[in-house]
Amino acid sequence: MRRAKISIIGAGNVGATAAHWAASKELGDIVLVDIPAVEGMPQGKALDLYESSPIEGFDSRIIGATSYEPTANSDVVIVTAGVARKPGMSRDDLININTGIVKTVAENVARHSPNAVMIVVSNPLDAMVYVAWKASGFPTKRVIGQAGVLDTARFRSFLAQEVGCSVEDVQALLLGGHGDDMVPLARYTFAGGIPITQLVKKDRLEEIIKRARNGGAEIVQLLKTGSAYYAPAAATVQMAEAVVRDKKRILPCAAYCDKEYGIGGYFVGVPVVLGTDGVERIIEVELDAEERKMFQNSVDHVKELVKSVKV
Ligand code: APR
Repeated sequence: MRRAKISIIGAGNVGATAAHWAASKELGDIVLVDIPAVEGMPQGKALDLYESSPIEGFDSRIIGATSYEPTANSDVVIVTAGVARKPGMSRDDLININTGIVKTVAENVARHSPNAVMIVVSNPLDAMVYVAWKASGFPTKRVIGQAGVLDTARFRSFLAQEVGCSVEDVQALLLGGHGDDMVPLARYTFAGGIPITQLVKKDRLEEIIKRARNGGAEIVQLLKTGSAYYAPAAATVQMAEAVVRDKKRILPCAAYCDKEYGIGGYFVGVPVVLGTDGVERIIEVELDAEERKMFQNSVDHVKELVKSVKV
């Protein structure tokens, strides 16, 4: 069987960590790409990671590059290129610089891997995934933004701590934009099949939701020199795995919604079925009036953000 090929554009913290998780899951061969100004960096990280394979016991070819030729015909391309935020910055503050970067990257991805599924991680996510879609000319189902898996993972981690149970037993769903904008749905959140509202008091749940919303900022504040990368990379690799192994996972992702939820042509966080073809289906969940209002606010912010970028 032919091994899958996964290219990661941007060999910084998120990119290199994603390469690490992907290799350890033996997802396929990996190409780590960065800009010529840092020649040697992606090659060095790739070689170092490859040299860990006899110890960890995975068989993957891992190479680094500063051009796109080695990425040719990738099955999945993960885009982490761009700058990360520093304390005091919001994700939206990155928009001008990252728009130019993501546009160039997506054009190159389309040229060299015309059939790939592209997973965008660069921030501000909801706008960058739109830029990548426009610049690549890919069908909407093959462009997906990573946000919901990470935001849900943060929410699930904090809930597991609160309940005193395994993180594996907490299932949650959230909709909307990334981070501050996300809409956690308490009604669709369970621990071991038990509605979370039976296990966590309302005011504590509100506090946990707030912490999950600010999860990215909390890490930026602690690190001071950059933003989170372990959890973002793990989230991205879970999505890549769903595609490479055609798992049909139901995951919250930034997907292109037109008629769905009445969005009208933007990428927003919704539950999707992820498989070989990318987004195979968007699932529309029932929302009550309050949930719908929160979701609409989040969507309005995403629309504003997208309108401010020039693609
Ligand atoms: N092509 C390829 N790589 C690029 C390009 C480009 N045009 N422009 C920048 N890069 C590379 C940088 O050289 C750097 O190595 O992207 C990498 C980004 O790495 P970090 O600065 O470590 O940032 P990281 O923490 O990985 O975050 C990357 O993901 O989560 C988001 O907000 C985050 O937008 C940020 C992105």
